[in-house]
Amino acid sequence: MIELKQIEKNYRRGAEEVRALRGVDLSIAAGELLAIIGPSGAGKTTLLHILGCLDQPSKGDVLFDGVNTSNMPESELVQLRREKIGFVFQQFYLIPGLSVFDNIALPLLFSKKQASRSKILALAEMVGLEHRLDHAPAQLSGGEMQRAAIARGLVNDPEVLLADEPTGNLDSENSDKIYALLRSLSQNGLATVMITHNTELAARAQRTVQIRDGLVHP
Ligand SMILES: Nc1ncnc2c1ncn2[C@@H]1O[C@H](COP(=O)(O)OP(=O)(O)OP(=O)(O)O)[C@@H](O)[C@H]1O
Ligand SMILES: [Mg+2]
Repeated sequence: MIELKQIEKNYRRGAEEVRALRGVDLSIAAGELLAIIGPSGAGKTTLLHILGCLDQPSKGDVLFDGVNTSNMPESELVQLRREKIGFVFQQFYLIPGLSVFDNIALPLLFSKKQASRSKILALAEMVGLEHRLDHAPAQLSGGEMQRAAIARGLVNDPEVLLADEPTGNLDSENSDKIYALLRSLSQNGLATVMITHNTELAARAQRTVQIRDGLVHP
């Protein structure tokens, strides 16, 4: 479904060049649950952003459903991201002034789809937030914010969900709940990629890859 071929990503930091990814090959199949582990600064978030076409590699190709995205115009990339990819960011990015309901529905605004109340309700029920829909994000616990961010990542019915530390900062009980949710989503056909520092969770995933110094190790 997503195929990375010899991906390199360099960042400029003043005069210094940071080689964040140094030739990564990786493919993700439909319905697969993949965990990405690795030390801080190894290139995990960079890799996830490239997988989700949020950022372009310096070198190499990203194929989405067999189509090379390298030369796609930004307008097509926007459409691809909207229709096929769901994101859960490392820092949630819930909008403080919006209710949980409106936060979950937010991506629909950009895809110009109608926010049907029943769809948002169904998603909220799936992540166990049906009783929190009228609350503001600040009134939620960390685990609830994380689940709201997951529901929002799913609202456009993506083919792949990319989650950056979806259990970061959560206790083991809440981490287990999030993991169970991601696993059931992948069992229902959603390709799911999660970055985690939690080696116990990673060990339970279908497949784990380690990223170290900008390279992927199986
Ligand atoms: N926009 C940027 N400009 C310059 N350097 C960057 C930028 N983004 C990331 N880097 C550098 O690229 C490398 C990889 O960063 P990345 O965020 O992918 O790591 P990570 O594995 O997600 O780390 P963490 O576990 O701390 O989230 C790091 O050395 C980082 O400092
Ligand atoms: Mg990161």
